[in-house]
Amino acid sequence: MTQSKSLGAALVTGASSGIGAVYADRLAARGYDLILAARDQGRLDNLAANLRTEHGVAVEVIRADLTDAADVARLEAKIAADPAVALVVNNAGAALMGGFIDNTPEKIDDLIALNVTAVTRLTHAATRAFVPRGRGTIVNVSSVVGIAHEYGAAVYGATKAFVTYLTQAVAHETAGSGVRLQAVLPGATRTEIWERSGRKLEDLDPARTMDVDELVDAALAGLDAGELITIPSLPDPADWAGYQAARAVLLPNISHAHPAERYGVRALTPA
Ligand SMILES: NC(=O)c1ccc[n+]([C@@H]2O[C@H](COP(=O)([O-])OP(=O)(O)OC[C@H]3O[C@@H](n4cnc5c(N)ncnc54)[C@H](OP(=O)(O)O)[C@@H]3O)[C@@H](O)[C@H]2O)c1
Repeated sequence: MTQSKSLGAALVTGASSGIGAVYADRLAARGYDLILAARDQGRLDNLAANLRTEHGVAVEVIRADLTDAADVARLEAKIAADPAVALVVNNAGAALMGGFIDNTPEKIDDLIALNVTAVTRLTHAATRAFVPRGRGTIVNVSSVVGIAHEYGAAVYGATKAFVTYLTQAVAHETAGSGVRLQAVLPGATRTEIWERSGRKLEDLDPARTMDVDELVDAALAGLDAGELITIPSLPDPADWAGYQAARAVLLPNISHAHPAERYGVRALTPA
């Protein structure tokens, strides 16, 4: 694609509404050219026209259903082939409400394809493209539900736990390469995701539900600050650091030659 300014292009998945549409706006305002992907071509075209007019950036629209392997492969190929792509925002996602036993196998498969497989494949494509260049940024939109299994959305939460873990693990593996990763963990945010998954926005506690513009502005401030994990609602970042510190206490003891004494298992091999 033709570049307007020097930042390169940002590929934003799920840009047709909600968090992704605001990312598209904010990144265009920063001077990124855009590649917008989602299923709803009409909405993407409208957004693209507005952003070209308002911000003078180049915008390409790619209609893609990210539950479809061929469409995911087209985006992977785009990331691999277009050296202008400097930022990938894996934002497209859906929720699956209701109890685990009420979720159908088909809905579970679709959710995992969208929230896990597509995010993994596009993160992989971006990492492969960016590491040899020594630069590039990957933003994965996860969720606080991924650290809160008590919230009662087993499959959705598990997909988001995956996204957060993937982001942390790839950031660890590529540390020092010049490539940046960030996982954004929104809490409840006023977007269409609620209606799409059968919940009414009006039923949410307004005191615990964030405006989508504020959410994205905070996420970008977190990115600018170099955060790997951004939880826009969290007042004190020391709370997250404490969570990580508690996890670090476990690490020296999570793999030994013999089970812990309390299991009463007789050692068969010497330690
Ligand atoms: N809103 C919240 O409370 C909240 C909280 C935590 C995390 N999140 C995460 O934020 C991300 C964005 O969600 P949102 O809240 O902005 O919801 P949203 O307004 O419903 O937006 C979801 C976006 O994903 C796209 N999408 C859905 N299914 C797709 C598919 N099969 N293929 C390609 N694109 C698809 C939608 O576009 P099309 O329909 O045009 O395809 C839309 O652009 C998601 O990953 C979500 O899990 C949201």
